[in-house]
Amino acid sequence: MLKPVLGIESSCDETAAAVLDGAGRVLAEAVFTQQAEHARFGGVVPEIAARAHLQRLPALVERVLEEAGLGLGDLAGVAATAGPGLIGGLIVGASMAKGLALGAGLPFLAVNHLEAHALTARLPGLFPAPPEFPYLLLLLSGGHCQCVAVEGLGRYRRLGTTLDDAVGEAFDKAAKLMGLPWPGGPHLERLAARGDARALALPRPLLGRPGCDFSFSGLKTAVAQAVAKGLPHADIAAAFQASVAAVLADRARHAHAMLPEAKALVVAGGVAANQALRAALAAATPLPLLAPPLRLCTDNAVMVAHAGLLRLAAGERHGMEFAPRPRWPLEELAPPG
Ligand code: KG4
Ligand code: ZN
Repeated sequence: MLKPVLGIESSCDETAAAVLDGAGRVLAEAVFTQQAEHARFGGVVPEIAARAHLQRLPALVERVLEEAGLGLGDLAGVAATAGPGLIGGLIVGASMAKGLALGAGLPFLAVNHLEAHALTARLPGLFPAPPEFPYLLLLLSGGHCQCVAVEGLGRYRRLGTTLDDAVGEAFDKAAKLMGLPWPGGPHLERLAARGDARALALPRPLLGRPGCDFSFSGLKTAVAQAVAKGLPHADIAAAFQASVAAVLADRARHAHAMLPEAKALVVAGGVAANQALRAALAAATPLPLLAPPLRLCTDNAVMVAHAGLLRLAAGERHGMEFAPRPRWPLEELAPPG
């Protein structure tokens, strides 16, 4: 068995560090959410994010190592998200990981953030039976909205993606139109619980269309019009959420048709916290719906250490010259070796 691996995440607005043992068990994890720093701007400000990562990361790394009772010398490697994401944050996290690796004579692993999300459901002990390959992944966050066939380590096929906004972005924009604080997803879900989705008809973009792409900008425009008409916000929120649920369920059915041999439907990303969406996805296909606990659905370093561990165990490591990649599509990855 490998020695433990340190993971670092800094691609967006979560600063995170984690240590996993060689079997993938979590020894320590810490996340600092920068939400409060960005809230008054109504979205993530890249420069503020990069500075906050720089400020927080050293103490977080120290903390997880201390909690795990380990020093750098006890590790098998250091993994950091190297893309895709905001370049400033990626540079902070990857440079720190490289520095630690270089100083301690350890391998450095440049982890693809999307691969880390895609493999989270296979984290040892997370589910009674981890999903076998191939499975379907719906990545539903503020920055990402895609459906992926996960066929093995390093083997991913994107079945569909959003043509405009990410689904979390759509929630945040709709919430903002109704005067809710950022990030609006959870606020909108609470408001929707008090509303009647049948009080108004909102579009269901791409519903029934072939394939697995998504589109949300038309829905956002319709929400703006409903708000301008003075309709009750709770009803608008409920109708919005019902539309998103119907669209996601439809896309999941299409994805299953595109990968009939799929063993499970896995959801990840902050939007996966939404109970109405989860229920719609659970009913959409006969596949088991696997939703990791929220702390592992949103950005975290456990998933980064896990992906790093899998690649390290397969003999992979990256050179110090590996430059962070703001764009790094899943399809460009390959199995180790
Ligand atoms: O994965 P995540 O934490 O971070 C990034 O996208 O970077 O996702 C955040 C997104 C935000 O757009 C937020 O509004 C949305 O997830 N979200 C939700 C809910 N909780 C968080 N959307 C709908 N319903 C929720 N309960
Ligand atoms: Zn993410």
